[in-house]
Amino acid sequence: MTVILVVGARPNFMKAAPVYKAFKNNYPDVNVKICHTGQHYDSKMSDVFFRDLGMPEPEFYLGVGSGSHAVQTANIMIEFEKVCIAEQPNVVLVAGDVNSTIACGLVASKLHIKLGHIESGLRSFDRKMPEEINRILTDCISDYLFVTEHSGLENLKNEGIPQEKVFFTGNCMIDSLIDFLPKTEVTNIKQRLGIEGKYLLLTFHRPSNVDDKDFYDGLKELVNKYSGDFKLVFPIHPRTRKNLESFGVKIADYHNLILTEPLGYIDFLSLIKDSFCVITDSGGIQEETTYLGVPCITVRESTERPITVEVGTNYLAGANFNSVFKIFEEINKGNAKKGEIPELWDGKSGERVAKFLMENFKNN
Ligand code: UD1
Repeated sequence: MTVILVVGARPNFMKAAPVYKAFKNNYPDVNVKICHTGQHYDSKMSDVFFRDLGMPEPEFYLGVGSGSHAVQTANIMIEFEKVCIAEQPNVVLVAGDVNSTIACGLVASKLHIKLGHIESGLRSFDRKMPEEINRILTDCISDYLFVTEHSGLENLKNEGIPQEKVFFTGNCMIDSLIDFLPKTEVTNIKQRLGIEGKYLLLTFHRPSNVDDKDFYDGLKELVNKYSGDFKLVFPIHPRTRKNLESFGVKIADYHNLILTEPLGYIDFLSLIKDSFCVITDSGGIQEETTYLGVPCITVRESTERPITVEVGTNYLAGANFNSVFKIFEEINKGNAKKGEIPELWDGKSGERVAKFLMENFKNN
């Protein structure tokens, strides 16, 4: 049996690694091959994760790079189709909600190759997010849907997805977190960045925020407000860096604001773990902070991961810095919610994905 495991963009790597390892450890007869689309190509957005996560070099590298949604998706499809025709895999596994996910999913589905979706069922109900379109479409054509949280089960049921295709596995990304947490004790990232004392960790890359010039006024206000009492650490995503430059926004000289390139997995995990609070518009970081019990303020109107708000330590602020400030004041007074770890976020999700796939795979 041959399985092609697709990765393409930064958030895919930590979701795919545990599934790869589960196959290697528990089903050594299965031939698992990694295909990297090259959607993210900078070494800081890609290679560093392979190294940190102990993944082998991908068997296939499609090298598609950046482009508009149509260009990027189409180029991935053209290149991935060649791989599928040459390799004739029995199963293609895709993860998350990026353009690589839907592009490779479509190719597999049209070639009648069984398709599995890791992190299925999440919905923000905001179709202006490209990720939401990718999620809905990928789920619609998948044969095996691996779900991280209860809301995903509900969403798939409401969309009429046959229940026998749906498997509640828990969160593969949290498997990676649990696996690599001990390594965060030995990184010297704080020393390297000159962080001492309490600090806030900031990340922003969502187009609805960072492509809007006004967003940076809120960001500057946040830095002005809190940089007296805290260091603020801000690893900058390439999209955000580009926009800072094109809008002519100058934040480099702000007091106590530490700007860095995108960081590797273990360094970043270490920074989340020890931060006073994370302020972000990321999807995955909402889950990582929930697992680690660190307060997280999400600067978005919606979340596709409601369990992080209902059970975890996440607050949904809206795309509105005044609301971020109000929430932060409460956290700063010591009133942050405590949070619990969601069901099946136990480090064994990758094993469940491999097991369910092997039990349910039908070669027809
Ligand atoms: C993509 C995902 C998003 C995910 C994010 C994580 C889609 C639709 N979006 O957004 O869901 O949260 O990855 O980072 O798939 N760039 C570089 N180097 C790189 C990659 C990108 O400089 O290695 C720059 C390019 O100028 C590119 C821009 O960043 O145009 C955006 O990259 P792209 O892959 O299109 O989307 P992301 O914003 O990274």
